[in-house]
Amino acid sequence: MSAFVAVASCVAAPPKDAVMEARIDSLLDLMTLQEKIGQLNQFNTAQFDTLSAAVAQGRVGSIINEVNPEVVNRLQRKAVEESRLGIPLIFARDVIHGFNTVFPIPLGQAATWNPDLVEEAARIAAIEASACGIRWTFSPMIDVSRDARWGRIAESAGEDPLLNERMGVAMIRGYQTDNLADPTAVAACAKHFAGYGYSESGKDYNTTWLPLPLLADVVLPPFEAAANAGVATFMTSFNDINGVPSSGNQWLMRDILRDKWGFDGVLVSDWNAITEMINHGVAADKKAAALLAANAGVDIDMEGHSYPDAMEALVREGKLDENVIDDLVRNVLRLKFRLGLFENPYIDLSKPSPSYSPSHLAAATKAAEESAILLKNNGMLPLGKDVRRIAVIGPMADAPYDQGGTWAPDIQREHSVTPLAALRKLYGEKNVSYSPGVKFTRDISLDGIPEAVKAASEADAVICFLGEEAVMSGEAHCMADLDLKGAQTALLEALDKTGKPLAVVFMAGRPLTIKKENAIADAVLYTFHGGTMAGEALANLLSGKANPSGKLPVTMAKMTGQYPIYYAHKNTGRPPEWTVDLDSIPLEAIQTSTGCTSYYLDAGKDPLYPFGYGLSYTTFDISSPRLSSATLAKRSGEPLTVECTVTNTGDREGQETVQLYVRDMVGSLARPVKELKDFKKISLKPGESQVVSFTLTPAQLAYHGLDGKPIIEPGEFRVWTAGDSASGTPATFTLTEQ
Ligand code: NOJ
Repeated sequence: MSAFVAVASCVAAPPKDAVMEARIDSLLDLMTLQEKIGQLNQFNTAQFDTLSAAVAQGRVGSIINEVNPEVVNRLQRKAVEESRLGIPLIFARDVIHGFNTVFPIPLGQAATWNPDLVEEAARIAAIEASACGIRWTFSPMIDVSRDARWGRIAESAGEDPLLNERMGVAMIRGYQTDNLADPTAVAACAKHFAGYGYSESGKDYNTTWLPLPLLADVVLPPFEAAANAGVATFMTSFNDINGVPSSGNQWLMRDILRDKWGFDGVLVSDWNAITEMINHGVAADKKAAALLAANAGVDIDMEGHSYPDAMEALVREGKLDENVIDDLVRNVLRLKFRLGLFENPYIDLSKPSPSYSPSHLAAATKAAEESAILLKNNGMLPLGKDVRRIAVIGPMADAPYDQGGTWAPDIQREHSVTPLAALRKLYGEKNVSYSPGVKFTRDISLDGIPEAVKAASEADAVICFLGEEAVMSGEAHCMADLDLKGAQTALLEALDKTGKPLAVVFMAGRPLTIKKENAIADAVLYTFHGGTMAGEALANLLSGKANPSGKLPVTMAKMTGQYPIYYAHKNTGRPPEWTVDLDSIPLEAIQTSTGCTSYYLDAGKDPLYPFGYGLSYTTFDISSPRLSSATLAKRSGEPLTVECTVTNTGDREGQETVQLYVRDMVGSLARPVKELKDFKKISLKPGESQVVSFTLTPAQLAYHGLDGKPIIEPGEFRVWTAGDSASGTPATFTLTEQ
């Protein structure tokens, strides 16, 4: 494994601040072994009583989950005023997609394809969280996720490494700003390092088998980008890679993260992940687990109690060198200095809470608008002026908690604007009837359907809000079947019989398999749980006050059995040109009559909707790419310019995301059929055109060989400029050796 070499330029460690390093060393000189180990322990606040004594004794370095600012200050006072060396605590929390003002789940934020908006969301989250004393968030999660059965796909930016990289870096900037010592700055955490998104069969915490090219081309690039962007912390993942649990993976944590990428921040274990190496079967007990983790360079044991329980004995028995511990402690102290906690440990309780300020709510509305993906529209949307009576149906229409999605522990449901409330505000209470049909998304009772049908038949238009409750995705919430649960489909079928114009809005934590519902509906807006302002945003979109511009950050399968499914797949030796549907196969047909190619008889070769797809109320024309040259010289350093003209061919202003895809036609290893290399989101007035320009360099065309070393191979490449991963006509260029 040590042969691994990452393509992107190796970053030198940021020049360390000599004064700060001297302060760290002099503090370290004063510390007892117990105090050093104390800095490496992160405890959950649930044990408050025990904690305050432990804090005063210097046995706690950081605390997770305390969000009461008064308690934060009290505990901090214990550390600063009562512990021997007065080292401040760091308070951490999973602020994943907003704090009190909840933004769309990260998968929804990725659907905006708008890194500036994502950065702003993270900034707002940091402002609100830091006001409660939180100076460390365990975000962004940048695990490339290609299996929607995995509940944590909700927390990622989807299936593509570049999209994860761009969204991750945007979040890091928003949380941290360029000055971590700013009291509103929050240390970000690149997680879960690494490979967690590849949990076998989409089941959480499962094992992964990851060959070096896949790791280096797909899994690691977002993390390397995070390190380059100056992310303050990393988190080890729960999974093992090829049998090595991340919390004990020296190659990943030392050779790659520290030595190759020059990371000098804090590496925290995931919750109890050090101790769980016993369950993995690579450590016999806590002592062995702590030894593996310390040697791998894991600085902080999050609520695992291996370090506090075993580290001292390991040193005493001569199994663990105290110098190893010193390095871990240095990293923790460095973060505390960088956060300015020694100078500014307390929260100013006299300041009013910034949560839910009008500008925060406006940003959350915009993010939710831009994250909604219009998958289908036969002209029903936006609702016309002739629509006076609207029937609002479905279990997600008025679900103030569930629209927040997974990992929104600080949501306050009374602040959520639901679609029902927003549509009533917009169209008038008496013009909007409401009948959920089914009470919650898993409800199997058909009892409420007749009333919903009655409401629908009395309306000019029907909007049905379906999907998943928040608890159905996220950590440890995986699904083996991604069809809609409960009686939701039966409800939709019953509504369809009314013959009324019928739009479906999905609110979910993942791409569900909605082939049937998609066929029934006149229009489909797909959203990943949109947060506090989801309802306001949806009312704006449905009414035409806003124009959809979201694009799928994941491929949408027709059936669960297609997973893992992603656009950047390999061509195989037998790519299908035609397919045969199971139902059309005659009895006793000969085996070869369906073609011996790579597809499913019951699902075909294509997804329901491709990665990058999403409609608007206007239409766009994107020209084929124009290249600055037919060749790109590997060594000249001169990039290739790829440009296209985008025209708004409809009658409304709208936003289009132009996506740049490349295919390496012949490689020493089989290459993906397409890879996203760049994207730009632009806004155009009706009839307006704009030239969108990208550059391509040889480094962007590199990939990794079986030995993990980067390869840049001369030969033919195709390049697309398109509105999704399945359309466009490519241009061709040749990468030459010189
Ligand atoms: C476990 C999760 O895997 C991780 O993402 C989270 O940050 C920690 N728990 C802390 O809550």
